Amino acid sequence: MRTEGLKIKNLSKAMNGLKIVDRVTATFLPGRITALVGPNGAGKTTLFHLITGELKPDMGEIFYRKKKIAGLPPYKVARNGIGRLFQDVRVFENLTVFENVASACYSERSETPWFPFLHIKGLRSFNRDIADRVMFWLEFGGLADLKDTPASSLSYGQQKILAITRIMAAGFSILLLDEPTAGLNPVMIKRVLNILKKIIKEDKSKTIVLVEHNMSVVTEVADWVYFMNEGRISFFGRTDHVLGDQEVREIYLGL
Ligand SMILES: Nc1ncnc2c1ncn2[C@@H]1O[C@H](COP(=O)(O)OP(=O)(O)OP(=O)(O)O)[C@@H](O)[C@H]1O
Ligand SMILES: [Mg+2]
Repeated sequence: MRTEGLKIKNLSKAMNGLKIVDRVTATFLPGRITALVGPNGAGKTTLFHLITGELKPDMGEIFYRKKKIAGLPPYKVARNGIGRLFQDVRVFENLTVFENVASACYSERSETPWFPFLHIKGLRSFNRDIADRVMFWLEFGGLADLKDTPASSLSYGQQKILAITRIMAAGFSILLLDEPTAGLNPVMIKRVLNILKKIIKEDKSKTIVLVEHNMSVVTEVADWVYFMNEGRISFFGRTDHVLGDQEVREIYLGL
């Protein structure tokens, strides 16, 4: 039987008197790449903030593995296996690529995920196991050749791939990715998409939720799409179904 995945029920959030997220109900299933699409300001990033605990909902529930997680602080949400790629990419610029991934491996979704970063220098020498795992994930992300490069010297696209690799290395089972291909050239987009496909192919218990404006990316990787507009999910279903819908095309694609 399929595990339940992440379920959102009637989730709402208002800010400055405006309903930013308005009674959103959605299910994100394991083994699937689900895209969340919609115009700028639709509330997609805010929905991610609500799931990860950066914001508290005014109303509604979020269930993961039958546990209620709405309103928990971010570190507790992370401990439940929910990881996130921020719209503005976040890596430790002063650390090498290896050290960035090591800090993620070491944290194991612990209470304070950034704590190990303080101790990361010299980690290689005292923990062979972790070094092997780091190398595994660096190979997975195609970053092995860059392992000793400071993250600050990477291109923007490489930093995004590093950030995704860190989420994988930390062992999260749900990956919430906010615009992972934005600002990337076609070669780097292809690399990111291949990584996402590989994640699902190799582990069907993983769930990927992708906020994405590039419709060819959505068509290529997403199995299922939620269309969000003015805080609401106004349409959802199989990718071809949603992207072929006349209302979605008019509101979003301007067709
Ligand atoms: N802290 C805040 N206080 C008040 N309004 C906010 C706040 N954060 C976001 N908003 C508003 O909420 C709305 C939704 O923003 P959000 O960032 O979730 O949209 P989005 O769908 O992610 O857009 P984009 O595709 O441009 O990233 C916008 O109108 C934004 O101005
Ligand atoms: Mg956004």
